[in-house]
Amino acid sequence: NSQYITLNDGNKIPQVGLGTWQNKNSEATIDCVYQAIKIGYRHIDTAAIYGNEEEVGAGIKKAIDEGIVKREDLFVTTKLWGTQQRLSQQAIKQSLERLQLDYVDLYLMHWPVALKTRSIDPSDPKNYLCIPMNPENKSVRDIDVNWTFVDTYLAMQHLKKEGLAKSIGVSNFSINNLKELFKHPLFKIKPACNQVEIHPLLPQDELIAFCKEEGIVCEAYSPLGSTSSPILTNETLVSIAERLNIDVAQVCVSWAVQRGYVVLPKSSQVARIEKNYKNLVKLSDEDFATVNGLKEKYGEKRFVSPDFSPFKTFE
Ligand code: A2P
Repeated sequence: NSQYITLNDGNKIPQVGLGTWQNKNSEATIDCVYQAIKIGYRHIDTAAIYGNEEEVGAGIKKAIDEGIVKREDLFVTTKLWGTQQRLSQQAIKQSLERLQLDYVDLYLMHWPVALKTRSIDPSDPKNYLCIPMNPENKSVRDIDVNWTFVDTYLAMQHLKKEGLAKSIGVSNFSINNLKELFKHPLFKIKPACNQVEIHPLLPQDELIAFCKEEGIVCEAYSPLGSTSSPILTNETLVSIAERLNIDVAQVCVSWAVQRGYVVLPKSSQVARIEKNYKNLVKLSDEDFATVNGLKEKYGEKRFVSPDFSPFKTFE
């Protein structure tokens, strides 16, 4: 599967990428990334908060050192965590150091919420993982009320100019968040991508249509419904998968490819990483329509929810 989508800045993004959330700090993560590249993946998605940039970088380095791929043929994404929204230049430089790269292909603002700044202590490699909790209510993040995601984005525009990121974009942005960003007089560079949760029980039709109109490519995270997903055992999807002799995961990835956005299935098992990339099919009009209609049948479900306090809903 080597389809590419052209971004609004002219860069090309491979449509199927490897998600790495919840792959942590181990030789296994290095091997997953290395094996994925061997299988043919050219797009790897990580984030500072995943705590695995070193391993992702080591897997990439191993593949490059062995001559399996050249750096310029890979598309690597990482993300700016909320505690570093005031420090985006320092944050991307530290991500690049952990990844052992000179640039990332795509740098995303992870959430449209600035959390209180944690200074980055280079002597503590895991310091960037700090998520300050509100002392009164430990289940709530400590929001930085004097800094907005618009401020952060304006600073991120310079990261593209400096070449630290070939493209910049956002993640978990609603239509309202995007409209607010577009309003600012210093807003110059349209986000190339908006990475959000999209799967058959959360098809996000309205957001995808809005982004398309604005020239922003959506990227689907948790395209299988994340960990312990009810999607993978959904009876309708299981019956389609059985008839086509593939797994439900392949139905989900194929459906996403057919809908035309970037899709980032995550697995820590090499056999699944391979299937999620190689065993894709073109769904018949009937099966495609059935998957499109799952939300009506089973109700909308969001599996990744932000517990950032001022945001009661995604909108
Ligand atoms: P594992 O990592 O053990 O393979 P998402 O991409 O929506 O975040 O979903 C990832 C979840 O789906 C993980 O729990 C992953 O488990 C599981 N998964 C990934 N690929 C497959 C597959 N082909 N078949 C079954 N489960 C899969």
